[in-house]
Amino acid sequence: MAVVKLDQICKRYGGSGPVAVDHVDVTIGDGEFMVLLGPSGCGKSTTLRMIAGLETISSGTLSIDGRVVNDVAAKDRDIAMVFQSYALYPHMTVADNLAFGLRRRNIDRAEIARRVQDAAGILGLTPLLDRKPHALSGGQRQRVALGRAMVREPMVFLFDEPLSNLDAALRVNTRNELIKQHGRLGSTMIYVTHDQVEAMTMGTRICVMNGGKVAQIGAPLEVYWQPADTFVARFLGSPPMNLLTVRPDGAGRIATDHVSASLERWAPALLASLAGKEATLGVRAEDLHLRADGLGLSPGRICGRVFAVEPLGAETLLAVEIEGGQEWTARLPRDTRADVGQSVDLFFPAEATYLFDAASGKAMKPMETAGVADLRRREAGLVH
Ligand SMILES: Nc1ncnc2c1ncn2[C@@H]1O[C@H](COP(=O)(O)OP(=O)(O)OP(=O)(O)O)[C@@H](O)[C@H]1O
Ligand SMILES: [Mg+2]
Repeated sequence: MAVVKLDQICKRYGGSGPVAVDHVDVTIGDGEFMVLLGPSGCGKSTTLRMIAGLETISSGTLSIDGRVVNDVAAKDRDIAMVFQSYALYPHMTVADNLAFGLRRRNIDRAEIARRVQDAAGILGLTPLLDRKPHALSGGQRQRVALGRAMVREPMVFLFDEPLSNLDAALRVNTRNELIKQHGRLGSTMIYVTHDQVEAMTMGTRICVMNGGKVAQIGAPLEVYWQPADTFVARFLGSPPMNLLTVRPDGAGRIATDHVSASLERWAPALLASLAGKEATLGVRAEDLHLRADGLGLSPGRICGRVFAVEPLGAETLLAVEIEGGQEWTARLPRDTRADVGQSVDLFFPAEATYLFDAASGKAMKPMETAGVADLRRREAGLVH
């Protein structure tokens, strides 16, 4: 069992400096793979280092399995951390690199040998045990670093962007490897990244951070489909969610020369309160289409001028400038043809619209998400 609980955790470097981590509240369940995701400087590493015991906690309570560990030394927390720059000992073989930490802990030799063999077996390092790090590929070195953490058999694994030094192909491999290892070991893992694909594919839950604060915590697809605010909506998604300032009437209709939409997902009382005021409309790139057919009863429409066409092979991105200077991107089929400068209409189903408060950026909760759930099920091919 290893439940890691952060209760109102804050960090101020130097005691009086700016707040790097601001009242973070999150409980990581036993065996969970929690991803801390956010842009550079949002406090991910600081949070992880406080959990590891490498950084003092300015205020708040950190507990592991109910025991408060704020003042417990890093070495006594039963946590292993894998960093982005994992320094292996260059003059030692893989086997010695794996065993080194255990030898320092006076663990019995037979036990060390067993753990090293086990970890090497799981990570596919057995044939490499006699090599030195210089004779390994980047991915193999990364696996040794992971193995070094594994042999400690800790209650909790912490990872700080462990894959960012690897090339794209190796990153995918090692990512899958880590997912497999998590399944096999069932340990609690906390993984820091600013890569949304890693977060979506590895995490059982994602904790999105922004400016030291938690923006949202949820399962990957939940955070993707129900973002708490415009920051999360744009951070998760590539291209990011398209946004536009609109002024709906009291019945939830938006009708200008360049955009029309019907806000059917929101309660009449909420729409009435928005009458004539600014709100932020959101539509994901994959929900934009060049034709309105098949998009339900009252599809939205937005028109703009194409300023970039990006054929990516499997799909084509169309970047469009909406009146007022906003840029929207549509994710369209690969055979899409368009010319720069051309005017286009883009259509979207009413269920695919999002609405945010213009000032705070907070999502306005729709009445029910059944319509959206249906849309997603249709997309997933579960219903026809
Ligand atoms: N030792 C330090 N002293 C003072 N400020 C620091 C220190 N370490 C980090 N900070 C500041 O704290 C904030 C959070 O930094 P942190 O390293 O946790 O960000 P991060 O989310 O891990 O970013 P990145 O993705 O770039 O690694 C930043 O504003 C950073 O400048
Ligand atoms: Mg960092």
